Amino acid sequence: MNNFIFSNPTKIAFGEGQIKELANFLPANARILLTYGGGSIKKNGVYDQVVKALEGKTWFEFGGIEPNPHYETLMKAVELVKKEKIDFLLPVGGGSVIDGTKLIAAAVHFDGEPWDIMAKNKPFHSALPIGCVLTLPATGTESNGNSVITKATTQEKLAFGSPLVYPQFAILDPTTTYSLPPRQIANGVVDAFVHTMEQYLTYPVNAKVQDRFAEGLLMTLVEEGPKALKDPQNYAVRSNVMWAATMALNGLIGVGVPQDWATHMIGHEITAMHGLDHAQTLAIVLPAVMQHQRDKKREKLIQYGRRVWNLQDVNDDAVIDGAIAATKKFFEEMGTPTTLSGYGVNKDSIPKLVDMLKKHNLLTLGEHGAITPEASREILELAA
Ligand code: NZQ
Ligand code: ZN
Repeated sequence: MNNFIFSNPTKIAFGEGQIKELANFLPANARILLTYGGGSIKKNGVYDQVVKALEGKTWFEFGGIEPNPHYETLMKAVELVKKEKIDFLLPVGGGSVIDGTKLIAAAVHFDGEPWDIMAKNKPFHSALPIGCVLTLPATGTESNGNSVITKATTQEKLAFGSPLVYPQFAILDPTTTYSLPPRQIANGVVDAFVHTMEQYLTYPVNAKVQDRFAEGLLMTLVEEGPKALKDPQNYAVRSNVMWAATMALNGLIGVGVPQDWATHMIGHEITAMHGLDHAQTLAIVLPAVMQHQRDKKREKLIQYGRRVWNLQDVNDDAVIDGAIAATKKFFEEMGTPTTLSGYGVNKDSIPKLVDMLKKHNLLTLGEHGAITPEASREILELAA
């Protein structure tokens, strides 16, 4: 196991009815900005619960944050924050609303063009505090310091990360996820699954705790994901999916182990260019990365196949083949196609996607830094 320092400062309130905890969690005299997306929270009762919990507080609202949150929209929220002297941000929604609000938090006091935080890795030295209510288990953003922002005008999707934007608290009520459409249920399960894989499917460093935790999360998602589609109001199923998604990217399973993230980086380019949902791009790219990197990932692929899929074949290569096939089948059973063509994206896009990886300096991806633009091209060909 490699050395590490671990801290996760986000306080979690989990369970039905926990939105009322907002009243206790929010600072007494804060000037709060409630941020949200396209209106799902107004249809499923979450907005009303939040408004009730905000009684007696000073608060404002900013709606309309898009899926794959747009930089341009977020900069309008920054203006509102400055005008109303907001000092606490309360995103209520999915990963896009929370990620977008992290950028708002960082941009308010940023000297210069905030896009440079993503595009040029420019540091920022303060951020407004954030507390969130999560309605879509998927990204883990509710208790991590990461954010992914899309610039609509240039069709670019870039990430930043900082300990300054960890939410101070996250409210996770599984009943808020009952209203998710099947596509978003599937997206969440696939995203959490791939987050786990990015931190697990590399090479062994004898990190038994991280490996067993990761395998537990993967098996939970394989078991519960299809149930969430079939039985959307099942509280136990939704609870397990929600907690698995948080645990998949709150830092815990990633400490002391090598990490990959090539699937995510390639996937972000597909979303930016073709508008596919984040998880859809992961379902396309991950099986191809597994295949392309099968020699480098050999030991973990065998471990994954034997432990997560219970593949008993004596032949290790047959286990690897079986593990890749089982992964694809799982994504497809969740209703998420695993090829570019499954979403109508033509092979002709591949050179343009590789050009964007080069433009974003994503030249040495993966746990060995071995996925060059040429390797990314081969991976995308495998995923065509
Ligand atoms: O906008 P509203 O009306 O709220 O509708 C949303 C949106 O249309 C809807 N939705 C959310 N909760 C709902 C609901 N509909 C009904 N009932 C509910 N309870 O779902 C749609 C998608 O929402 P979005 O927030 O975009 O989805 P998700 O949570 O999957 O977030 C995706 C974004 O997160 C980034 C992705 O790149 C993408 O931009 N990621 C962030 C990460 C992080 N910060 O750590 C890591 C991830 O790898 C990922 O890259
Ligand atoms: Zn993801």
